[in-house]
Amino acid sequence: MSKGSQVSKEVLDKMSKLIIGRKKELEMMVRAIEKDLPIIIEGPVGTGKTEMAKALAESLERPFIRVDGDDSLTSIKLKGWYDPPLVLEKGFSRDTFISGPLTEAMEEGGLFFYNEVNRAPSETINAALTALDERLITIPQLGEIKARKGFIPVFTYNPQDTVATNPLPKAFYDRCIWINVTHQPLEEMIEIVKLRTSSTDNFLIRISCEIVEASLNHPELEYGSTVRGAIQLVYLFRANERIDEIELIERAISVHSRKIRSKTSSRKSEVKIIEEIISKVLSKYDDNRITRKKED
Ligand SMILES: Nc1ncnc2c1ncn2[C@@H]1O[C@H](COP(=O)(O)OP(=O)(O)OP(=O)(O)O)[C@@H](O)[C@H]1O
Ligand SMILES: [Mg+2]
Repeated sequence: MSKGSQVSKEVLDKMSKLIIGRKKELEMMVRAIEKDLPIIIEGPVGTGKTEMAKALAESLERPFIRVDGDDSLTSIKLKGWYDPPLVLEKGFSRDTFISGPLTEAMEEGGLFFYNEVNRAPSETINAALTALDERLITIPQLGEIKARKGFIPVFTYNPQDTVATNPLPKAFYDRCIWINVTHQPLEEMIEIVKLRTSSTDNFLIRISCEIVEASLNHPELEYGSTVRGAIQLVYLFRANERIDEIELIERAISVHSRKIRSKTSSRKSEVKIIEEIISKVLSKYDDNRITRKKED
């Protein structure tokens, strides 16, 4: 085995300890970065996009430099700017230039994490294109800044997010490796909640994940909840606390009702759907930890 692939195997092993499942996706990420290829992780809310990028930086032991896309993120903010008082004193030089996050990541050889890239103006993305393939950017008065070995850009994008977003240029996709993620299956979701909450209450964890899974597959929902919701619901209970159906519904409403949306064709409110999901999930269990709601 070559030295390079040995290093990649170590990185992959480390990532697999931080991320549940996603074996193929993690392997693809590691192969991409071996060849300095930028990555775009695309997927709905709460599918582990940020966590995968963080795990990559941690496993590579590289700095994680983050920027969040919004319409105020200009190319100047991304690359950097000159400090006016310093320029008056010293003129245009590297000392008077304040690096933006892209330049910082290139100079430090870090993982440049650009979250929700489609929320930034197209001009900002276009300005970053040379960093993606030629691994350099041009700064007025300074000239070219080249990326150190180790610089890797990772973008995220939620295709369901259509408010205040901009289409991504074809040239951007052309430079990137596209990793698509969707919600994970129940058993993986359970492992994620165990890992993130450190809870030992397996019954509560399972119920919380089954509620999320039922919401994701619900025919009357436009979109369901996320593993984040399952994590939050576990947090709202004390370990091994008796599960009172009415309390579970109340807490689940606080957790999930704004994470889900009922279809316009459905006459049911989100709250009603949560109640129905919970009664269906609990009906499977004949557990002495459940206090059931009395039928009205
Ligand atoms: N495969 C996974 N392994 C371990 N933890 C995960 C995994 N997927 C999701 N998580 C956990 O679920 C939560 C949501 O994940 P994350 O924040 O990465 O999602 P996201 O796709 O970036 O969401 P958003 O679109 O809202 O930014 C976090 O607590 C994260 O640690
Ligand atoms: Mg995220």
